[in-house]
Amino acid sequence: MKKRTTSFGRRAGALAARGMLALTLSLAGSAFAQVLPAHLDRANVPQGCLGCHAGGHGAKGTALLKAGTSGVCLGCHDLRAKERSPRITPRLDLRASLDKASRHPVEETSALHRRGEPFPERNPGARRHVACADCHDVHWSRTDSPLARLDGLDTAGARVRQDAAEFEVCYKCHADDANLPRDSKNKRLEFNRSNPSFHPVEAAGRSLRVPSLIPPWNVQSTMKCSDCHGSDDTLGPKGPHGSIYGPILVAHYETNDALGENSFQYALCYKCHDRSSILANRSFPLHNLHVVKAGASCYACHTAHGSQVNTHLVSFNPAVVTLPKSSPQAAGGVVRLPQAAGARPAPFAIPQFAQPRSAGTIEIGRYVDLGNGHGQCSLSCHGVEHNPASY
Ligand code: HEC
Ligand code: HEC
Ligand code: HEC
Ligand code: HEC
Ligand code: HEC
Ligand code: HEC
Ligand code: HEC
Repeated sequence: MKKRTTSFGRRAGALAARGMLALTLSLAGSAFAQVLPAHLDRANVPQGCLGCHAGGHGAKGTALLKAGTSGVCLGCHDLRAKERSPRITPRLDLRASLDKASRHPVEETSALHRRGEPFPERNPGARRHVACADCHDVHWSRTDSPLARLDGLDTAGARVRQDAAEFEVCYKCHADDANLPRDSKNKRLEFNRSNPSFHPVEAAGRSLRVPSLIPPWNVQSTMKCSDCHGSDDTLGPKGPHGSIYGPILVAHYETNDALGENSFQYALCYKCHDRSSILANRSFPLHNLHVVKAGASCYACHTAHGSQVNTHLVSFNPAVVTLPKSSPQAAGGVVRLPQAAGARPAPFAIPQFAQPRSAGTIEIGRYVDLGNGHGQCSLSCHGVEHNPASY
């Protein structure tokens, strides 16, 4: 156990060599005490380094920490913890978030974390894990920048060293890993800014006509994954730690059909898209017919991330939508959808469900955007044939 017997002083020295000491010294002379990283401020962590690190031997497999890589954090970030800092408020109570039904499996899998481990994961057999330290470098975290100094993967899949954007931190584990769960898609491919449509995480979106947006949201806006993935509790910690709504969503989103439309059912979307605008058919003239009268979920037709194939975030839910019965493609052939002059080339013959693991969106190209609020669908949904149907 080389790690455990190395003296703490030497390891502290190693960190100092990486700029820690330089930072501490430069801040010592600064009048702006508030830029001090949160945990190096004695008002927050009175014991200093020893607030987290052990004086002698540390917990097994950790950087000489007093407890497990994430356990050490929960010793403080828990309103009920005995030794918590008096500064911990409901906003910093991670215990409450991690007790929720949908959460990052921090406590279950933190022990697998190793400092400086490579990503994305190349071994398809490796167990997936996530620790607080994967998303926070606590020597640098600040109140205005909890993700300060983290590495990530950029839109091209290349490594970003230090100060990665939030989505680049997420791409470390939700994009190109060989051990991505079978039903999980490659987020880097879904959000790619060269896709025909995407929610504006990497860059402002493609569409200039999104009449439902509730100000201050507009077509120039960008958003973070954590605008959708975070706590249901608005007084709880920001960030995708845990929520009563899965998958770690800030508000409820019903993906099943036929449960009836109301403001709770699609509360996530209605946070930024005005419900009355959608139901009044201000864009898609058949929104009301589908969502209210037929009881279709937004999820029947839209992805919340992005599509490598379709405009307007159109991506049909394969659990309810199939190809029209009479289509040659349904029999394994290729269907050529009619195309308007100047329209984006339709993506033909992408075999249904046959995409490799870690693909981005799964589409079979049954939607054709004809421009100016018109389009065409060829599909079968709950026994209703669109072969094709136009609007
Ligand atoms: C709020 C908790 C916390 C405080 C306070 C803290 N550390 Fe750490 N430190 C950690 C954690 C967690 C890790 C392991 C990170 C990982 O595994 O990715 C770590 C890792 C380290 C390492 C190992 C780095 C490496 O590259 O192997 C050193 C050295 C270190 N800390 C020094 C310090 C010094 C010096 C201080 C005081 C100035 C300090 N730490 C204060 C939590 C803390
Ligand atoms: C000794 C108690 C203590 C420990 C241990 C501790 N923290 Fe903190 N942490 C605090 C306090 C206090 C603050 C600053 C609160 C504030 O904003 O006023 C803070 C701030 C933060 C912030 C910045 C957010 C903010 O609003 O300031 C992050 C991120 C964070 N902690 C994560 C962690 C992680 C991850 C660990 C484990 C490696 C950890 N903390 C361990 C007490 C602790
Ligand atoms: C160190 C790896 C790691 C990082 C970084 C990471 N995650 Fe995760 N995430 C996981 C693991 C492991 C799970 C459990 C399910 C799985 O294996 O994908 C998970 C689950 C999730 C889920 C729930 C999925 C479900 O089906 O219930 C969401 C949503 C999520 N992560 C979003 C994010 C966001 C947003 C970020 C960036 C802020 C992020 N993750 C960063 C490892 C990570
Ligand atoms: C506009 C809201 C929104 C944004 C922004 C968003 N998500 Fe999601 N995400 C959802 C919804 C809704 C679901 C559940 C439906 C689904 O699976 O498509 C979901 C599902 C997921 C899942 C579980 C399904 C899977 O494919 O693994 C993960 C992981 C995830 N999101 C990660 C991310 C990451 C990482 C980002 C940022 C790069 C992000 N999300 C941005 C709304 C959003
Ligand atoms: C955090 C705010 C936010 C949330 C939550 C959100 N959206 Fe959006 N949405 C936006 C913004 C901003 C745009 C504008 C992007 C553009 O101009 O291309 C947009 C655009 C769209 C578009 C049009 C895209 C295009 O290219 O035409 C659709 C469709 C859409 N959202 C559906 C949804 C659905 C369905 C949900 C719920 C699962 C949802 N949105 C949740 C902010 C949000
Ligand atoms: C999957 C990535 C991920 C994991 C794992 C994670 N966090 Fe966070 N955390 C975030 C993101 C992203 C934010 C910032 C959200 C924002 O700025 O809106 C954040 C914010 C925070 C904040 C500031 C909250 C606020 O409202 O100011 C604290 C404190 C914190 N995290 C502590 C922890 C602790 C402790 C753990 C482990 C128990 C942990 N986090 C695990 C991604 C993560
Ligand atoms: C039957 C399929 C279908 C369903 C169900 C559906 N949409 Fe759409 N939606 C579309 C199509 C197609 C467009 C693109 C219309 C065009 O511009 O040609 C669209 C456009 C949009 C837009 C962009 C324009 C605008 O109005 O701002 C948003 C946002 C949107 N939908 C949100 C939603 C939400 C939220 C739900 C669920 C409450 C939903 N949609 C349900 C098919 C659907």
